[in-house]
Amino acid sequence: MAKTKVTHSCQSCGAQFPKWSGQCTGCGEWNTLVEEITKAASHPRYQGYSVGDPEITQMIEVTLDEDTRLGSGLEELDRVLGGGLVMGSVVLIGGDPGIGKSTLLIQTLCYLSQQLKVLYVTGEESLQQVTLRARRLGLPEDKLLLLADTQVERILKLAQQEKPRVLVVDSIQTMHTDLLQSAPGAVGQVRESAAQLVKFAKQTGTALFLVGHVTKEGTLAGPRVLEHMVDTVLYFEGEQDSRHRVIRAVKNRFGAVNELGIFAMTEKGLREVSNPSAIFLSRYENPVSGSVIMSTKEGSRPLLVEVQALVDQSHMANPRRVCVGLESQRLAMLLAVLHRHAGIVTYDQDVFVNVVGGVRITETGSDLALLLAVLSSLRNRPLPQDLIVFGELGLAGEIRPVQGGQERLREAAKHGFKNAIVPSANAPKGKLGDMQVLAAQSLQEAVDYFKSF
Ligand code: TYD
Ligand code: MG
Repeated sequence: MAKTKVTHSCQSCGAQFPKWSGQCTGCGEWNTLVEEITKAASHPRYQGYSVGDPEITQMIEVTLDEDTRLGSGLEELDRVLGGGLVMGSVVLIGGDPGIGKSTLLIQTLCYLSQQLKVLYVTGEESLQQVTLRARRLGLPEDKLLLLADTQVERILKLAQQEKPRVLVVDSIQTMHTDLLQSAPGAVGQVRESAAQLVKFAKQTGTALFLVGHVTKEGTLAGPRVLEHMVDTVLYFEGEQDSRHRVIRAVKNRFGAVNELGIFAMTEKGLREVSNPSAIFLSRYENPVSGSVIMSTKEGSRPLLVEVQALVDQSHMANPRRVCVGLESQRLAMLLAVLHRHAGIVTYDQDVFVNVVGGVRITETGSDLALLLAVLSSLRNRPLPQDLIVFGELGLAGEIRPVQGGQERLREAAKHGFKNAIVPSANAPKGKLGDMQVLAAQSLQEAVDYFKSF
């Protein structure tokens, strides 16, 4: 009998302790330690990327394999992967239930199965369900290999025999390994199952997709550790009721992060949106107050996105600040800047801010647009519909330049925008078509422009 070992691991951060306690000293969460029993046999733990006997090498002697990037059949997916799928890499795809993870992967795999041997392991749906969906979507299904199983050792044994070049495991939370006795979905199980799958991928050069669930807070269920083990982490964003789905690379060892891939969910599955710059705009008949279009740059593409604000008299001691698609902390800070540097008070107002279309904006270049939307709602004064805004705000009330200013302006001009408020360091030297560009150095200047409309 192999000796067993008892550890307690935190379901929130993955830290391990020999003894149980009420609070995790790693992350400070309460009641998150769960007992895990491990067989202390020779443990095939994840050991980083080493195949064979390691030795010290001079960098100059390292030979590079030809960059074997595999087109996934969806250009938008290739874009977030950094130009295609790298053989031997491990990609984690996270997202809310029902957002389209399985749909994306079945589409990709059916496409890839035409050139390579690929295996789709499902732990959530039956073989009939997977097949039904592929048929309904009219995908080329003749060469796709399927397996419905949740036991990692068995899956890997079959994978070793079949030798697929691309492997999908949907989802990692349903997998379990014999090494641990805890239930599937527990942190330890997720971590160990992933470790074994990752090791298999690295040793055999198989490209591996892992599907991961997200918690209510929007992070991957299971420990953060999962993100460290894989090469690429992709997140699905977007609202269930909106048609558009955004995939964001939050970590990528083979490409740029924060790159976005944009899809639309249709009755024929996920379709790429190859020219997405204007899909996040809602066009009104007449200008409305509280709405500002910003030109943002997430990843390598400029996007025109509408931000809406509603400012309303508050009846609470602590007025509400609610953000959808932007950071609430940042909103609180910006409102303070608005007060100190432009003398506009909102401490007796509830402030709600929303980014249209369910896209999440992470860059600070959205600051100025957000404040102008707040101001427009507060004063109940619409801004022109052909105005675009971008710029970052500093705590001293200065407006800082953003990266890719010219590109953002050109994109807006292409879509017929005629006015712009931008940081003065981003103002174009020459003329930009018939666009009137107002350059602002400070928040006060931007507020003066606002008054002039
Ligand atoms: P799914 O890929 O099963 O989600 P996940 O694996 O992330 O949980 O997506 C299911 C959702 O997508 C479901 O709400 C229905 C919708 N959908 C369509 O609108 N059109 C389609 O062609 C398909 C396959 C799904
Ligand atoms: Mg699914």
